[in-house]
Amino acid sequence: MPDGIDVDYDGLIPNNVGLADDPRLKKALETWHPGYIDWWMDMGPEGFQDAEVYLRTAVSVDPKGWAKFGFVKMPDYKWGVLLAPAVEGRTIPFGKHKGEPAWQEVPGEYRAMLRRLLVIQGDTEPASVEQQRHLGATAPSLYDLRNLFQVNVEEGRHLWAMVYLLQKYFGTQGREEAEDLLRRRSGHQDNPRMLGAFNERTPDWLSFFMFTNFTDRDGKMQLEALAQSGFDPLSRTCRFMLTEEAHHMFVGESGVARIVERTCAAMKEAGIGDPHDTARVRALGVIDLPLIQRKINLHYSLTLDLFGNEISTNAANAFNAGIKGRFREAKLEDDHQLVDATYPVLRCIDGKLVEQQVPALSALNMRLRDDYITDAAGGVRRWNNVIERAGFDFRLTLPHQAHNRRIGEFSAVKADTLGNLLTDAEWEVRRDEFLPTAADAAFIAELMQPVHTPGAFASWIAPPKTGIDSQSGDFEYVKISE
Ligand SMILES: [Fe+2]
Ligand SMILES: [Fe+2]
Repeated sequence: MPDGIDVDYDGLIPNNVGLADDPRLKKALETWHPGYIDWWMDMGPEGFQDAEVYLRTAVSVDPKGWAKFGFVKMPDYKWGVLLAPAVEGRTIPFGKHKGEPAWQEVPGEYRAMLRRLLVIQGDTEPASVEQQRHLGATAPSLYDLRNLFQVNVEEGRHLWAMVYLLQKYFGTQGREEAEDLLRRRSGHQDNPRMLGAFNERTPDWLSFFMFTNFTDRDGKMQLEALAQSGFDPLSRTCRFMLTEEAHHMFVGESGVARIVERTCAAMKEAGIGDPHDTARVRALGVIDLPLIQRKINLHYSLTLDLFGNEISTNAANAFNAGIKGRFREAKLEDDHQLVDATYPVLRCIDGKLVEQQVPALSALNMRLRDDYITDAAGGVRRWNNVIERAGFDFRLTLPHQAHNRRIGEFSAVKADTLGNLLTDAEWEVRRDEFLPTAADAAFIAELMQPVHTPGAFASWIAPPKTGIDSQSGDFEYVKISE
């Protein structure tokens, strides 16, 4: 049943791409599979491979009911190859091929460009699993433990999604890239993952929630841009990945919201009026709001770097070619070719930040980053609603784009969180005001103690409003084998 809504579950690899009728591809994926399982056992969630976890598995690509929930050991998870349904008569929505029928095969001239985009996207998926592999040991509840593992298995599936495209459309080179995706390691000195933020540590659960809120949100933006692609199999792959990605951001955004909620409640109970009264707040076993702000500054700035240089010929070429579009391209009202258009970019010129109009085609990274910033601001607003409702005079903010950057216009300068430029000496003096400190890390490390009793939560996080799949509050989401 090729390209259907229902998924073929009979073989080793669940799929809706007609794998049974494509022996060459089937063999390639089955050859890759044992290496993937080895990677999962080596680099996947540490200490919980035998646990029964209440996970959702995609059984269809019908938006009305695509997942089923049930207990499964993670190594037995049904990682599959799933594409959103084909859109009849789809045309290339942007660039110089706009209006031509979407490609079902890779156009020869764009082969290298497409392969590179697939590999970069693919590399982030196993990287985040590697970054998060130690977190199970300190989960604040079984509910959160389950959410961590859900995110992990789905990132594993996203790797499958990219490997499918590489193996199906890129021959020997694609197979080699698929092997390399299993060889690189997050944070490894000699063989690291490809992008900076995916080589950083995710040492604690506050970092995990920040990562899933901010960095998975970059993933969402990249997938949205690739979902526009004129290369139809990529578009369909990304459209289905986005349905899973929404849950990752829910985990991050609601995770931070629950921490903020718990902190505010504890401060109120203790009669603490000033959120900056850090020592007293920490004595309550909750995370102070200024520390949450410093974590925001760190994860947000690392994530902005993932958008690459503000002005980029690669981005222009990928758009022109019809390979990578803009966020929600179809909803934008312009010619979708941008040949004469301009776009404002904040630049750093002679030590000053100035806005400049540049050709819109070369500013596409900047544009996607701007859309990301708008999206991310919505989450911060919801966190602030929690603080406001609790009656505290404190607001979390997104730092200025120039703050703590390593890539692009601002990589050569130091800036505070408001965008005021600092000398190196001033930065050194004030650094601990902006970014998590060694003392912060020590405090959080002490706080991170596992809670494995069904329905119980660590002191520093509030329970969720509702359970996963409408389960009750004391549901045992993970059955840990002793
Ligand atoms: Fe992903
Ligand atoms: Fe994700």
